[in-house]
Amino acid sequence: MIPTDFIEKKKIGKEHTSDEIKDFIGAYVSGDVPDYQMAAWLMAVNFQGMTDRETIALVDVMLHSGETIDLSHVKAYKVDKHSTGGVGDKVSLILAPLANAVGCVVPMLSGRSLGHSGGTLDKLESIPNFNPMLPKKEFIRLVEESGLAMGGQTKEVVPADRKMYALRDVTATVKSIPLICGSILSKKIAEGIDGLVLDVKTGNGAFLPEYNQSQKLAKQLKNVGQHFGLNVKAVITDMNQPLGKAVGNWLEVVESIDVLKGGGPADLIEITLHLTAWMVVLSGIEKTFDKAIARLEEAIRLGDAWEKFLMMVTNQGGDTDMVTHPEKYQKAGVITPVNSTENGFIEAIDSYAIGMSALEMGAGRRALTDKIKPEVGFIIEKRIGDTVEKGEPLAIIHAPDKNAWQQAEQQLRKAFRICDHKVVAPPLFYETF
Ligand code: URA
Repeated sequence: MIPTDFIEKKKIGKEHTSDEIKDFIGAYVSGDVPDYQMAAWLMAVNFQGMTDRETIALVDVMLHSGETIDLSHVKAYKVDKHSTGGVGDKVSLILAPLANAVGCVVPMLSGRSLGHSGGTLDKLESIPNFNPMLPKKEFIRLVEESGLAMGGQTKEVVPADRKMYALRDVTATVKSIPLICGSILSKKIAEGIDGLVLDVKTGNGAFLPEYNQSQKLAKQLKNVGQHFGLNVKAVITDMNQPLGKAVGNWLEVVESIDVLKGGGPADLIEITLHLTAWMVVLSGIEKTFDKAIARLEEAIRLGDAWEKFLMMVTNQGGDTDMVTHPEKYQKAGVITPVNSTENGFIEAIDSYAIGMSALEMGAGRRALTDKIKPEVGFIIEKRIGDTVEKGEPLAIIHAPDKNAWQQAEQQLRKAFRICDHKVVAPPLFYETF
């Protein structure tokens, strides 16, 4: 395979064979194809797309670029959830122990924050001493013994995605449906699961903001996932405003604890119950969605979900005293609200801008080597459709220092659009495939 011929073929919109894809990706992982040729091909895919056959070949090659986790000896149904990424999306922290509390076996491998969107791994690491980077053997042992492990993708699992993703991030090629499919499905199939619930975000805080693109992605993820024997449920959910109130790693852990203990914001509770219920149905634990919801609500009410969270934190070395008494955690340097300067209704919230502002304060990374500040972020006090009065807080900023606070304050002001007429809030859910 001559790399330039391969790139040229996609550039002019022709279909690759599976062998060609295998050779090119394989050569990239081994270092024989340099980043600049991969970048050129990624851009060609970005414009020309890929057929279903090509996307399946891509997932297959990426999946086999490294180690996979073999859980075939665990006889129970193994199920996971993955979100395409959003702002304030801490659902996994609640969903995994909640699903486990009603009998689901959840081997979850998550990623770090990416651009404006947060990452479960960074949220978990904000719990002092919590170790998500479990060696493969330990990950398997926890799944066998407790039915729950929340880990991170190690160097050995799907190395093709780690290399390609880093390159996509800096070459404006993240927003490509076949590339997103390859990235998500290769990682999820490598976990050794039977069922997968996909939360496909749509709106201004999603990687693919336009609805028709989210719809296409959801259908493609389902079709390709099913080709690999995965039982997939794909739900399109709203990301036109942050999910819940907290944005920022430790703040999101605290909000998740609230939900696990029976409190928390209504939108976050509803989305979490909905996605977890599909896991329960896929696992065959309940036959109907409504029964699954009732069972999950009971698991929260009885304290079982919270117990499972504590078990998981203990199993993975985390400080249970800190999650039991979150008020002991180190506070951000400046915690001050940004108040509205007018009366009216919240018409729109720019979630992307809020995610980027949190990143700039240290909640995310500009470069892979950046160190996260776990205590910084926002508590978003207003949602679309809410009334607001002059002097009322739009959000509370948890900033590292005064300068960062001032910058975030300006960014947050711009992120809220206030109007003088009533506004209908967007729905939480759209279609399910
Ligand atoms: N999440 C992933 O894991 N990969 C993508 O390409 C986009 C979102």
